[in-house]
Amino acid sequence: MEKRLNGKVALVTGSGGLIGPAVVRRLAAEGAAVAVTDLSLESAEKLAAGITAAGGRAFAAALDVTNPEGIASVFEAAERALGPLDILVNNAGLLRKQSAPLQQTPVETMKAIIDVNLIGTMLCCREAVGGMIARGYGKIINLASIAGVSGLPGWADYAASKGGVITFSQTLAMEAGKHGVTVNCVSPGMICGPQVQENQGTWLGRSGVPEDIASMIAYLAAPEGDYITGCNYLVDGGRVVGPRNAAWIQ
Ligand SMILES: NC(=O)c1ccc[n+]([C@@H]2O[C@H](COP(=O)([O-])OP(=O)(O)OC[C@H]3O[C@@H](n4cnc5c(N)ncnc54)[C@H](O)[C@@H]3O)[C@@H](O)[C@H]2O)c1
Repeated sequence: MEKRLNGKVALVTGSGGLIGPAVVRRLAAEGAAVAVTDLSLESAEKLAAGITAAGGRAFAAALDVTNPEGIASVFEAAERALGPLDILVNNAGLLRKQSAPLQQTPVETMKAIIDVNLIGTMLCCREAVGGMIARGYGKIINLASIAGVSGLPGWADYAASKGGVITFSQTLAMEAGKHGVTVNCVSPGMICGPQVQENQGTWLGRSGVPEDIASMIAYLAAPEGDYITGCNYLVDGGRVVGPRNAAWIQ
């Protein structure tokens, strides 16, 4: 694989889920040193060990993105271990397993989802962007969702949190652009598992895989993405383009 990120240092949040490991492995495969973080230290350590075993540089830490003090100390430790951050991927996210109409959604659940998805993203950006601005270089990539563009009945809190991530990212792109820092969102559609699955809800007739998201993130982090900021890339097999399966559509 082409090493477009040689010499760069990246930090990824929420690395332990479905998409995170593919993102971490892709950034490392492209030459970046990666700070692997998640609520679960065990999963972060396992991923980081895989990178170092393959000859790369990695650092692992437990990180709860809702905790500002924890963020400060983990980011500092990551920079001490690997060097100043060039790339931040805010991947940590929370989604309720069961859908529920708004009137049946517990207030505490709504707050927890906004707290992780929106405030957590803002806190990590806040921690990283000062140093990036001072050094005149940085790439921030925030995981939003197609739900943040089109809404998602039964998951209003999640959709609102991701819509917030998109407009927050646009705003930070405006604030930080003149200092050489780009801020973009990647909005996955249905990423259903490690394997491709047939899915007639997308125009490509399949669901996405974590690598589909990782390759867009790597593109934005690489020099190819240098002139892109304030954008939200939908990686969704065309799901949001328009309706499918209507009787009158060929
Ligand atoms: N999978 C999809 O189809 C899909 C679609 C749209 C958007 N997304 C977004 O992409 C990102 C990754 O999705 P995924 O499918 O891998 O999710 P996932 O649920 O599999 O993994 C999420 C990860 O975030 C971590 N996390 C949760 N709360 C955290 C906290 N407070 N602090 C730090 N880490 C925390 C979890 O430990 C987990 O490892 C999320 O932001 C998600 O909202 C995913």
